[in-house]
Order: sequence, then C-alpha cells, then structure tokens
Amino acid sequence: MTKTNYFRHRLDEELDEMAAGYIGSWAEDKRLIDIDIRVNEAHTLMLYKQGVIRRNDAKKILEMLKLAREDWRKGKFEFDREDIDVHIATEKYVIKSGLDIGGKLHTGKSRNDQVATDMRIYTREQIVDILELLLDFISSLAELSNEYKGDPMPGYTHGQHAQVTTVGYYLLGYAQGFLRDVDRLLNAYDRVNLSSLGACALVGTSINIDREYTADMLGFDGIIENSMDAVSSRDFVMEVLSTVTLIMTKLSRMAEDLIDFSTYEYRFIRLPDRYCDISSVMPQKKNPDVLEMIRASAGKTNGLLIESAMGTLRLSTGYSKDLQPIKKNLCEAVDIVKPSITLMEGILKGLEYNFDRMREVIEENYVTATDLAEFIVQNKDFSFRESHILVGELVKTAEKQKKKLKDLSPDEISKISANVLGKDIVISKKELEEATDALLSIERRGVTGPSPVSIERILKSLNPGIKKRREDIEGIKDRLKSAEERFQKTKDDVMG
Ligand code: ARG
Repeated sequence: MTKTNYFRHRLDEELDEMAAGYIGSWAEDKRLIDIDIRVNEAHTLMLYKQGVIRRNDAKKILEMLKLAREDWRKGKFEFDREDIDVHIATEKYVIKSGLDIGGKLHTGKSRNDQVATDMRIYTREQIVDILELLLDFISSLAELSNEYKGDPMPGYTHGQHAQVTTVGYYLLGYAQGFLRDVDRLLNAYDRVNLSSLGACALVGTSINIDREYTADMLGFDGIIENSMDAVSSRDFVMEVLSTVTLIMTKLSRMAEDLIDFSTYEYRFIRLPDRYCDISSVMPQKKNPDVLEMIRASAGKTNGLLIESAMGTLRLSTGYSKDLQPIKKNLCEAVDIVKPSITLMEGILKGLEYNFDRMREVIEENYVTATDLAEFIVQNKDFSFRESHILVGELVKTAEKQKKKLKDLSPDEISKISANVLGKDIVISKKELEEATDALLSIERRGVTGPSPVSIERILKSLNPGIKKRREDIEGIKDRLKSAEERFQKTKDDVMG
C-alpha cells in the first residue's frame, strides 16, 4: 500500500486544501477531542467484551487512545488539515500503532453516530454548567429581592411610568423567569442524555455490538433506539439552543432596563465601575459596555438558533454535512450565555440604588394615579370608569398647575367631579395623601403583587424550589461520576 491517507483510497486525488479548510470542523472539534477519545475507549471496551476484538488488540488501542489524550493535553497532538475532523484525526493517531490493530477501532461505528454521541455528551456537560450558573444567579436575585422588598420604584408600560412596584419585585420576576429556564434545561437533559453510538452510518451494523453497554459506560441514561433517527436528528441541540435564546432574551431585557436606569435622565442606579468602560475622548464618560454586549449577544444567540433551524430544514433523512455547523452554533451559544449570566449577576450585586430619585419620579409623574382611582371605587361609590374619568381630569389639572396629585385641594376635586361627571365627591386631604403614597401603594397589594408580604410569600416557595433543582443537578453529577468510575475500572481491568 502506497497511500498514507487511509481514508481516501476510493479517490484519485488528495483533497484540495481550500476545500479541506471549508468542510473541516477542526476548530469546534478541538473542544470535543477529550470526549471523542472517551467514546472511542468505550467502543473499544465493548468490542472486546463482545468478543469482536482480542484483549491484546483492545489493550493496544486503549494505550494509543491514552497517548492521544496525553499528547493533546501537552499540545503535541498533530493534526493535518486533510484530517477534516476529530474522528479521523483520532483514528489516524491510533493507527500509528499499525493498520492491523489500530484499524480495528472503527469496527461497528461511523463518524455519523460518533459525532452525534460526542455532541450529546458535550451538550449535557454544557447543560450542567449553565444550570449551575443560572441557579447561582437565581439565588442572588432571590437574596436581592428580599433585601429590596420594601423599596418602591416606578414600573413601566410602553416605556412610560405606569404603577408603583418595588426593586425587590422587579428582581423577583427575573428569578422566577430564569427558574423556568432551569426547568427547560433539566427537562431537555433527559432527551439529550441518550446514546447514538452504534447507530453507525445509518442502519446499525451486522457486527455483534452492545449499544446499551457503551451507553452505560459513557453515563447515558439510555439509547436513541432507531439508528436513522440517531444520526439524522439534532433536535436535542435545538432545544438547548432555544432555551439559551430565552435566557439571553431575558438578560437583554434586563440589560436594556439597567442601561436606561443608569442614565442621567433616570438616575435610578449607579453601575459598578468594574463593569463599565471609558471614552478615549470624552473624559466624563462611563459607558455600560458589558450590558450593551449582553444586549447585542442576545441577537447573536437568536441568530444561532435560527441558523440551526434553517440548517436542518429540508434535509433528507440520514447524515448530511449540513448538520456540522449546528455543532459550531451550539459552541458559540454556550460561549455567550455562560459569561453573560455571570456578568449580569456581578453587575446586580454591585448596583447602588437611588431610592429618593425613584420616589421623586413616582410622586411627580402621577405613578399612583391608578391607586387613587381604585381608592375612589372602593370608598366613594364610583364605578371604575367614573373614577378613571375623574382621576384623568385630576392629573390634567395637576399637570397644568405643576402640582402633585396630593396637593390638589378637596374643593378643587369635588368641583372637577361635578363638572365632568355631574357627581359629587367628598375626599379629605388625608385620604388623598394616603391613596397616592408610594409605600402604602405597595402595601395595599396584599398577598399578590409587589408588597413585601407577597415577596416573602413567593420566596418561601422559591427558595426550596432552588434547593430542589440544585439537588437534581447533584443527582445528575453523581450518576455521571459513578458511570465514570465504572468506566475507569473496566478500562483498568482490561489493561490488567
Ligand atoms: N465532522 C462531521 C460533523 O461534525 C462528523 C461526521 C462526518 N460524517 C460524514 N459522513 N462526513 O458533523
């Protein structure tokens, strides 16, 4: 045999160099090499257990795989452009020991089932990482929401002052939202953690393999039974990508809020300097670059999801190279979401709040007008629409006179009511003050909404919920660890 490229004997020419760069997946495969070696080891152990290869063959192959891992860690793993991907590169490394033995590694498997298996392991590892970061973030949000449960801030609809909320309630809403993403990921984990290995190129193999065994060695909870499904599907990646998108979308909404709240116009918060950048020209500037990047990166992860969806659209059943970029998209998405979560947590922990300014806005821009309307409904025998009309008129009058609602006189109010509704109202100064007070406004929400008691009630079930999810993750990690130990022991036994 003259050719040294063991994979292209059917072809007369070497692969064009530009084409090799174009179709290769080496850049993203670098992060899969450890996983790919593990998958090859499990496959080798299985071939030996099944009597497909001899013990000495298995030992030789396992030795070469061990060397490959060591070389990779030392930065000495040679990789040619023509190798195209991690699977070819690893097999080639093993074949250095000889085609007769090393050439047995690829018995009863294909790159198609292997890449799907590698990706499933990579995806589950990323799920665990993201889950841990998210739960830390949610715990911080829960703590902060307890700390600021009694601090009123204006809430917005249409970007306009709407009603009074609290800083605590604002943060708590995010904790609850991100907890849904935790559940999405935990739920997706069950569908991700199934082995594709042994599906081979498309329809399995006539070689006597044991798919359950490799699945168990690799810490999978089961197998993707239909081999055509196993090599054709990337829905498991799309689920995770879509959850990443949901996480990033929420982070970008929060980033947008914080950017606004930190401007001179709002003056609600002061961003920690360590998460801000400067202008090289304007000496006074302090720019919210990290938040802006989070906002922009959310666009990127949305794009990656859509790109992956488009990449699988109209593909025929079976492996097509179009599936390869989805791997890269997942890698890029996790590289975005992980630091975004941690950075946002750091920013929130370092925020300084200007509560006086928030109170000022609430009072000056009639943020408690709905409270007054509801007070009138409950105490003055007005229908809601009547009350809405009256308070609307009161706001108009107060605005013209550059007054706060509470500074209108009871006389003025009853005149306006008689005018617009033909209905008298007797409202005292004290009633007016109480109905439009920001603190009383949140207290009146009772057990729902932004009141401190409501926040405490929600936290009472949220905190155990966080703890329960942390236990779920520990359970996952324990199962993976004990599979890893079984795997290691089996390897040691075969190696003698
Ligand atoms: N590099 C490929 C990927 O990432 C691996 C599978 C290649 N299979 C094939 N028949 N070309 O998807």
